[in-house]
Amino acid sequence: MLKTKVAESLNSQINAELYSSCLYLSMESYFHSVSLSGFATWMRVQVQEELLHAMKLYDFVGSRGGRVVLEAIAKPDADWESPLAAFAHVLRHEEGITARINNLMDIAASEQDHATKIFLQWFVSEQVEEEAGVSEILSKLRLIRSDSSGLFMLDAELGKRVFVPPAP
Ligand code: FEO
Repeated sequence: MLKTKVAESLNSQINAELYSSCLYLSMESYFHSVSLSGFATWMRVQVQEELLHAMKLYDFVGSRGGRVVLEAIAKPDADWESPLAAFAHVLRHEEGITARINNLMDIAASEQDHATKIFLQWFVSEQVEEEAGVSEILSKLRLIRSDSSGLFMLDAELGKRVFVPPAP
């Protein structure tokens, strides 16, 4: 059975993951609006990944006899100055999520909840991957700056991203 403090923190993280999916859905629409369909595809995959993160947490809470209590999801931004500004926002956001996961891990440790610590290990690794992937795109955008042919090449590259559901 989950202790109250751990259950509340996991619930809060479900909300954070759902907010992440909304933020990236908003970015998908932004990228469509500036005719960068590859960036938009990348964001759609990101939306699916965030929903997966939320559902992993949801299922875990249920499997430990906890109750999921959903909260309102904050309104995400709708516009960015440039693809560079959007991806700088993504990196800031993911760094914030990493800090939240680390805090959750600390809470699980202080409550001596070993099962939750093991469960959260997947999220710790996932955040390393997320930050690395976003940092790489951001670096490329900084190199490209206002070179439109570079932007179109990156758009084509990002458009190849596909969502790979985890093995059951
Ligand atoms: Fe679910 Fe992008 O962190």
